Amino acid sequence: MKTLIKGGTVVTASDQYRGDVLVEDEKITVIGTALEVQADTVIDASGKYVLPGGIDVHTHLDMPFGGATSADDFESGTIAAAFGGTTCVVDFAIQYRGQTLHHAWETWLKKAEGKAVVDYGFHMIITELNDQVEQEMDALVRQGLTSFKLFMAYPGVFMLDDASIFKALLRTGKNGGTICMHAENGGVIDVLVQRALAEGKTAPKYHALTRPARAEAEATHRAIALAEIADVPVYIVHLSASEALEMVTEARDRGLPAHAETCPQYLFLSYDNYEEPGFNGSKYVMSPPLRDRGVQDQLWRGLAFNDLQVISTDHCPFCMKEKELGLNDFSKIPNGAPGVETRMSLVYDGGVRPGRISLNRFVELTSTSPAKIFGMFPRKGTIAPGSDADIVVFDPNRTITLAAKTLHMKADYNPYEGRQVTGATDTVLSRGRIVIENGKFVGRPGAGSFLKRASRS
Ligand code: URP
Ligand code: ZN
Ligand code: ZN
Repeated sequence: MKTLIKGGTVVTASDQYRGDVLVEDEKITVIGTALEVQADTVIDASGKYVLPGGIDVHTHLDMPFGGATSADDFESGTIAAAFGGTTCVVDFAIQYRGQTLHHAWETWLKKAEGKAVVDYGFHMIITELNDQVEQEMDALVRQGLTSFKLFMAYPGVFMLDDASIFKALLRTGKNGGTICMHAENGGVIDVLVQRALAEGKTAPKYHALTRPARAEAEATHRAIALAEIADVPVYIVHLSASEALEMVTEARDRGLPAHAETCPQYLFLSYDNYEEPGFNGSKYVMSPPLRDRGVQDQLWRGLAFNDLQVISTDHCPFCMKEKELGLNDFSKIPNGAPGVETRMSLVYDGGVRPGRISLNRFVELTSTSPAKIFGMFPRKGTIAPGSDADIVVFDPNRTITLAAKTLHMKADYNPYEGRQVTGATDTVLSRGRIVIENGKFVGRPGAGSFLKRASRS
């Protein structure tokens, strides 16, 4: 089966050129100018960019959280991802206390199998560490699940103590895994939450007011310090605060392998959203919370200068009915918001078009760099002969209006409702198969495969 993508501008993290791309079965085989090849399908990409498919290394599909389950499962979530130009997600399996990592992995594989329309991997959330779990970490790395998320927040649910965090970091020094850290000081936040509730402060905005930026910065600093002592890399997830960014920047300036991602919500939304009337502020309840608008320029600067290496989404959608679990108590609002479908257009529109980041950097932040950090490159994350044909034909001039009704994520609201963005996905290939064409999903649930990722070597 041959597909020829003709007349487009191929963009990678390092190059931009007019080129035709030949796909044979699942792989890119030839790139050239004016390729004259007999193909089964020809895609006209003139006037469009031909990009490596987006990689979102932070999604929560079909995830139980705070008495609810995230609204997208692996079918709707990966269909939405594909509509938005993302052809690979790395989701999170959860080891609950008393359970093995193996059990968690099996559980999440079952959630994805037969449903995912694009390829997927998992990070493993570890909530309890013992000798057996450490051995299981080694086994998972050997089997292609090569990263682990640890929480410094949510005491009693996900939070790990510093000794366990340190042991897990040390273990990745031996097995080549990567630790991803949710960096907020959960103990301090818990005290602030209890005090706010005792004072009758129950509205959604108190979610943000009880999670100060300094609590994120302190934990970010501690995570990096523990990784430095263990002599291993660390990856800070969903960084939101300039105080936390300072910690990452300082570490990187000292030459430490500290990596961090931020997410579109921290680049485009702000604390002001919590002040929206009624219970609307709950739409933006996520952790870490949205910060003051002023942080946005600093995050963009961090992205431009490589203090931040990745833009993921932390896609964790809940419908308003579930958000209402916290109608009278902000601490009971399920944390998270939809985002997997809107990332590429938002970042192109708000990052590339105003010149905050280059087109190459856009590709790097949304595809190449996550592929490299998480052991998928060069199979994913670039347009090159031998790479998987995960390809997005992206129209830089098409304007769309973001709205829950027309997007494909299952949450019944969208944080960017009514926002117009220029730059939109046209055609999407996942391992050579067309999955999005003419605004329609034409793929197949179950066609996505578990992606074995490489360890750091
Ligand atoms: O609010 C968030 N971020 N929800 C998802 C869970 C997490 O901590 O990533
Ligand atoms: Zn987190
Ligand atoms: Zn998350």
